Amino acid sequence: MATNNSVVIFGASGNVGKFAVPALLKAGAKVTLVTRKGSKTTFQYKNATVVTADYSSQSELISIIRGHKSVISLLSVKALSLQRNLINAAIKAQATLFIPSEFSHNTTNKNMTSLLPVLGVKTKIIKYLQEREKDRLNWTGIITALFFNWGLPQGNFGFDLKAGKATIWDGGNASFSAANLDDISAAIVKVITDSSARERYKNQHVYVSSVQTTQNEILAAAEEVTGKKFKVAQFDSEEAFAYTTKPLPPGYSPQLLAVLAALQLSKRGLSNYQARVNAGHNRSIN
Ligand SMILES: NC(=O)c1ccc[n+]([C@@H]2O[C@H](COP(=O)([O-])OP(=O)(O)OC[C@H]3O[C@@H](n4cnc5c(N)ncnc54)[C@H](OP(=O)(O)O)[C@@H]3O)[C@@H](O)[C@H]2O)c1
Repeated sequence: MATNNSVVIFGASGNVGKFAVPALLKAGAKVTLVTRKGSKTTFQYKNATVVTADYSSQSELISIIRGHKSVISLLSVKALSLQRNLINAAIKAQATLFIPSEFSHNTTNKNMTSLLPVLGVKTKIIKYLQEREKDRLNWTGIITALFFNWGLPQGNFGFDLKAGKATIWDGGNASFSAANLDDISAAIVKVITDSSARERYKNQHVYVSSVQTTQNEILAAAEEVTGKKFKVAQFDSEEAFAYTTKPLPPGYSPQLLAVLAALQLSKRGLSNYQARVNAGHNRSIN
């Protein structure tokens, strides 16, 4: 019989998994980690079961998931469509919760998905999950905007902290939300291990936000901490949004990164989840 906190995780070796798996193990979850056939991944966790699967084989997926209550997909953006196979197998194996590989901008906002096609792929997976609710598989989607502590040092918020340079979008006063990987992991732990949170957030999105800030606030903090005056370039987000009227090249092209940043930082305010705080969606969901 599946214990309440038993969970299978696909794609656990990536950026999100490196934080979420230790958090789940620490919380006492019974964890099975799945890598794709041919993967070079090795895990060092003492208390997790590790298996390899051919993601196109329903029988393999069903036998791996059987005996677990929950399934988490942390699959890469390159493999999002494979989640349909995981969902079908989860239903057959009688899992009751599926957390899809969302963890990004607000896919419930049509403006977002029309601007960035990869978000549309995520939306299609949510639609599929909604269609399958009748099969007693619930889902919870976790929306985070850009990862703050992961993205800030690598320039995703417009700052080159080492070089003391900043690219400020639309004047820098647009307020946005962003989540740290520890808080995202805490939200995952909550819906996996806490039965009342699991019930409260079933078949809907959860909005996790560690910070509510603006680029100008980050600039002031960065200058104070480093003691350097940053070299600032101003940028008009409409230039980046213009990329979205042409087909984007595949992969993490410079254009794609610019559109991701524009969705986060522009005056359109597409990543401002402040209004969700009153509904219990916050740094720590309750
Ligand atoms: N908001 C943000 O700032 C932000 C940043 C990063 C990611 N994300 C989102 O978080 C989610 C997870 O992303 P991530 O960066 O953690 O993932 P990732 O590191 O790109 O990939 C996770 C794992 O997916 C598996 N994988 C890769 N290609 C595959 C393929 N073709 N077929 C099957 N499995 C494949 C690999 O695992 P194995 O080799 O072990 O099988 C890989 O380690 C995505 O939805 C992504 O959009 C958001």
